[in-house]
Amino acid sequence: MGLDFADRIGRIPVYPAADGYALSESVALLASNEAPFAPLPEVVAAAAEAARTAHRYPDPGASRLRAALAQRTGVPVDQIATGNGSCDILLALGDALLQPGRELVYAWPAFSMYPQLGATAGATDVQVPLDAEDRHDLKALAAAVTPQTRLLLICNPNNPTSTLVPLEEIEELLQAVGDSVCVVLDEAYREFVTSEEPDASLELLARYPNLVILRTFSKVYGLAALRVGYGLCGDSSIRTAVDQVRQPFFCNASAQAAAIEALAHGDEVDRRVALMVEERERLAAGLAALGCQVAQSQANFLWVKLPAGVDEKEIVGGLSDRDILVRAGTALGGVGHLRVTVGLPDQHERLLAALAELLAQR
Ligand SMILES: Cc1ncc(COP(=O)(O)O)c(C=O)c1O
Repeated sequence: MGLDFADRIGRIPVYPAADGYALSESVALLASNEAPFAPLPEVVAAAAEAARTAHRYPDPGASRLRAALAQRTGVPVDQIATGNGSCDILLALGDALLQPGRELVYAWPAFSMYPQLGATAGATDVQVPLDAEDRHDLKALAAAVTPQTRLLLICNPNNPTSTLVPLEEIEELLQAVGDSVCVVLDEAYREFVTSEEPDASLELLARYPNLVILRTFSKVYGLAALRVGYGLCGDSSIRTAVDQVRQPFFCNASAQAAAIEALAHGDEVDRRVALMVEERERLAAGLAALGCQVAQSQANFLWVKLPAGVDEKEIVGGLSDRDILVRAGTALGGVGHLRVTVGLPDQHERLLAALAELLAQR
């Protein structure tokens, strides 16, 4: 007989996790869009200090962290949700808003977690193709909204394509869809944006109570392993709902302490962003010089179209044999592409030399 799992289990996709765990330090980890820098010693110390009282449950309301985020963002505390990574809040939004008969709209390719929301809730997924420049087609997204739509996800900058849609266009979409659709701006990479002020999107929250902005400590703050993210909600009812559908202790004590400390080092974050942006431009130029087509990146990774006729699997395998890990585009929705995380200068030199060799071998 065996176990009879719920029907929806068959629909929930398996997350396409990258390789790169338990490998030697010499391997260039350019596959998961992590920061190449370790957390600051003060941040590590704060996490360790919190671990000294690990026999106690963490603060379920993450009150100190939410107060620090309110101060950092200007968003009222009761409109700030925290979670076990921003994915936790994303999934909770799906849980809180979707059910069979309701619809979820998002662009594709976008973040690989999105299909999980509709599948988990038994809701209908509506995927809208990106435009010719690998950007969200906001007009098509707005047009895909129906009376059944409850959630619309915008990944900005978009993972995996790295592109950004400007805020004026997002505001037009917010006006077009009205306030019965919860619009989520997934801004996991927002700190790397240089074409507009990274925090400019926060101003939208005061005008659109149906808006949620998701951000994370996993990328620019370099705390991916601790799992802490946050959602800035246009209205406190959204935070209440996402807290309701989750187990009470969704943000562990070391993660809360590390995040609070990380927020106190804004100058260091700015310094790291400046380094990453400089490296982003240099790596993009190096890849273009090898005949690749690189999308206009506003994130800490590049979306790279390989020259025509090049087998993506062979390239990813060849790089892996040389201890360089990047992501194959096919698993992320882009055949013939690579997604390459911006790393450190020596890693880029190795990557460009290896890629030149592999392309020359064809
Ligand atoms: C677009 C996007 N959103 C959210 C996340 C998840 O971040 P977190 O580690 O906060 O769960 C990622 C992680 O790669 C991402 O690419």
